[in-house]
Formats: sequence, C-alpha cells, structure tokens
Amino acid sequence: MAGSDQKLTAKLVLPDSKEATLPVVVGTEDEHAIDIRNLRQETGFITLDNGYMNTGSTASAITYLDGEQGILRYRGYPIEELAEKSNFVETSYLLIKGELPTPAERESFGRMLTRHSLIHEDMHQFFAGYPPTSHPMAVLSAMVTSLSAYYPDSMDRNSDVSIHITRLLSKVRTIAAFAYKKSIGQPLMYPKNSLRYCANFLHMMFAVPSEDYNVNPILEKALNQLLILHADHEQNCSTSTVRMIGSSGANLYAAIAGGILALWGPLHGGANQAVIEMLEEIRTSGGDGKQFIDDVKNKRGNRRLMGFGHRVYKNYDPRAKILKKMCDEVLQHLGVRDPLLDIAKQMEEIALKDDYFVSKKLYPNVDFYSGIIYRAMGIPTNMFTVMFALGRLPGWIAHWKEMVEDPQTKIGRPRQIYTGPRQRKYVPIDSRG
Ligand code: ACO
Repeated sequence: MAGSDQKLTAKLVLPDSKEATLPVVVGTEDEHAIDIRNLRQETGFITLDNGYMNTGSTASAITYLDGEQGILRYRGYPIEELAEKSNFVETSYLLIKGELPTPAERESFGRMLTRHSLIHEDMHQFFAGYPPTSHPMAVLSAMVTSLSAYYPDSMDRNSDVSIHITRLLSKVRTIAAFAYKKSIGQPLMYPKNSLRYCANFLHMMFAVPSEDYNVNPILEKALNQLLILHADHEQNCSTSTVRMIGSSGANLYAAIAGGILALWGPLHGGANQAVIEMLEEIRTSGGDGKQFIDDVKNKRGNRRLMGFGHRVYKNYDPRAKILKKMCDEVLQHLGVRDPLLDIAKQMEEIALKDDYFVSKKLYPNVDFYSGIIYRAMGIPTNMFTVMFALGRLPGWIAHWKEMVEDPQTKIGRPRQIYTGPRQRKYVPIDSRG
C-alpha cells in the first residue's frame, strides 16, 4: 500500500488566505496524490469532484493502469503476457491472492472450483419463475444475492471468506449458463467435473442432454482470453460499487450483486451489447458508417459511438488492441464471416482520422470488438454483459478482500454541497396554490 511520503507536502491557499499543508501520498509507479482526509476538519472545506474524475478512493495493490501510455498490469504482470500465457483460473488466483500460484496451488484452486460448481437444487425453481424475456443480468444479480440466503454464514464477518470466494467464482458460471438455458427454453445442463473452468461453462451453455457435446478448443482458448482481459480494471463504476457496498459490512454476495447491477449500464459493461446493437442498426440502414459518425459528432439524438472512449484511457485501450487481433483470428479459425466486423473496422478507421474523436482522445475500448467474438462463439447479444460480469468477478472479489482486510477501511460516505432551499416554514395544504 502507498503511504504518506513524509518529505512531500502540498500547500493549499484558501479564500480567507489561510494555508493548509497537506501530506502527499506516492504510489509504487510514482503516482502522486494529495491526502485531503483532514481537510474539512482543519479548514471547513471539502473537495467537489463530480463523477470522481480526480479522486482516489483508496490505495490498492491489485491493478496498475496508465491511461496515457495504454498500460494495464494485474499485480505487476502486463495484460498482454497474461492473455497470451495464463488462463482465467490462474489469473483469478493472481488477482485474489496477489501472486501466481505454484503448480500445487493452481491444481488445488482448480479442484475447489470444480467441486463447488453446483447450485442448491431449490434455486432451480427461481429460474422457472422468470419470464423467458428476462434480461440475464436481472436474473444473475438476483441469483447472486440469493446465494447469501443459502450461505447465511457469509453474514458473519468472522466466517471463512475463502469458501465464499470459491463458491462465487464457481457458481456464477453455473448461474450464467442456467439463465441462458432458461431464456431459450432448453433443459439446464449440470456442470461436468471432468472439464476445466471455461470448457465447463461452454458445456453448460451449449450442450443438450440428447447429444454429445465436445468443447471446441478454439472456443475454450478464446473464452479464457476474453475473461482474462475483463478480469480487473481498478476503481471503475462496478468495482467502486462493490467496495462501497462492502464497506458497510454487507456480505460478499450482496456486494458482488451490486457490482453486477452497476456493470449492466450501457456506459459501462452494457456497452458490449450496445455496440452490437449499434452495428446492426448501421447495417440494416445500409451500412453507412459515415452518416452515423456525423450524427454522433453533431450530437443528433444524443448518440455516442458505443465502444469508444474511456474515462481513463486517453490512448488506445490495450485490451482493445488484443481483442481486435483476436477477433480476426477467432473468426478465421471458426470460419465465420461477420459483416458487423467489417462495419466495426470501417467505423474505427473513420473515427481515428476524425478530428472530433482525435481531439477528445476517443479510442476503441474493451467493448468495441469483444461482442463480435462472442457472436462468433454463438453467445447471444443479451448475454454479453453477463460474460463481462463472469470475467470481472475475480477483480471484484480481489477488491472486496483487499478492502475488508485493510484496517484503514471506513464506510464509504462522500459529502456534498447542498444547493436546495434554505430553512423555510411548513405551509399548510389549505394555504398553498
Ligand atoms: N462517442 C461520441 N462522443 C463521445 C464518446 C463516444 N463514445 N465518448 C465521449 N464522448 C464525448 C462526449 O460527448 C463529451 O463531449 P463534449 O465535451 O463535447 O460534451 C466528451 O467526449 C467527454 O465525454 P464524457 O462523457 O464527459 O467522458 P467520460 O470520461 O465521463 O466518459 C465514457 C467515458 C462513459 C466511457 C464515454 O466515453 C462513453 O460514453 N463511451 C461510450 C460507451 C462505452 O463504450 N462505454 C464502455 C466504457 S469501457 C467500460 O466501462 C468497460
């Protein structure tokens, strides 16, 4: 964890000319922050930062990202290396425990995930209660909350956290696949212990009891890579939600369910679905990307180029770079020709030469190409954000764990500047109007 550098301070001159001297905190990658924890107590001032554009909510040792340089590292390991050489289970271990596992640790972690993949039989009835049109994110978040009802010891802050972490990592995969099966009216497929994590998920998604299903190794590798690329992204909207909920002492399942809900929005994880819908719309209206870009630039209909732009990356998102290459490779291996990929590439080419996007530093983000790969894998559009949630799960868990283990953790409670009416007298209803 970063600590206050005793030598560095910052001076703040306030409107009444009083000065406040504030400690400076330095991270391991030489990032600097002004520690304002005592500012209000000492001066009566708070800071105001809509959307937390410039506010560090915590120090964290999990993920480093440099938006200007396009760098992303989990526990110090570059995302490019992990995507190429690791698998999702190992990367989850790394994020949650802080180090890459030894062969024995990896074997035992994988075994635990395999053993905990079933959900309580009674939970199957919940799936039956949802209409077939339900969005799988609604089902997923409700089911994850429900897990806390089946494991009430999760509400005891002294209970064994590792078993809840294992359950979540394993069962969320089962729940996600069951939600899909329910939505298409097929029988739920139980997990198979002989299969590895990602292969088991593909089996639960695509197998049917009436015939054999062999997991395509290309799909298994692609899924591992996709999940690794989504596994963590430090203090984003959903991860901050997980930390915020967890800071109140709510159990792990409740905190993760909140993260799933925050992820659902189209400005966050829901963008992968929105990208495909946008590309489909462009295709059905004649494939004229230029007109769409023109609408975006002139803010007609409040449109945005979905899958472009990022709060932190002001350079090409390193994950999008990997995904673009992967997209070509996976589609080629599977023999899939998707017209949406051509439209996406055309949109990217136009945008990257256009002053509107260049001047605002808007580049493709992780969601721009991921949906096209999921489509090629046979995953339906409304499941894309669920896939994102599956990938982000170890990151959420790692942040929750880091937070509950940190003795400095306080309940999340921002302040505000009140802009409503000053005190006034209650007016009885007869005297109003
Ligand atoms: N298309 C067109 N214009 C955009 C886009 C976009 N995708 N993104 C930002 N802009 C413009 C805004 O209109 C704004 O312009 P203005 O200054 O003329 O008003 C300017 O760029 C800054 O935009 P903000 O919304 O203030 O930037 P912020 O950092 O708050 O937003 C965000 C980041 C939400 C990701 C934004 O770029 C966006 O909406 N992108 C599209 C949705 C998307 O792809 N989300 C996924 C992000 S990755 C993830 O969460 C997993």
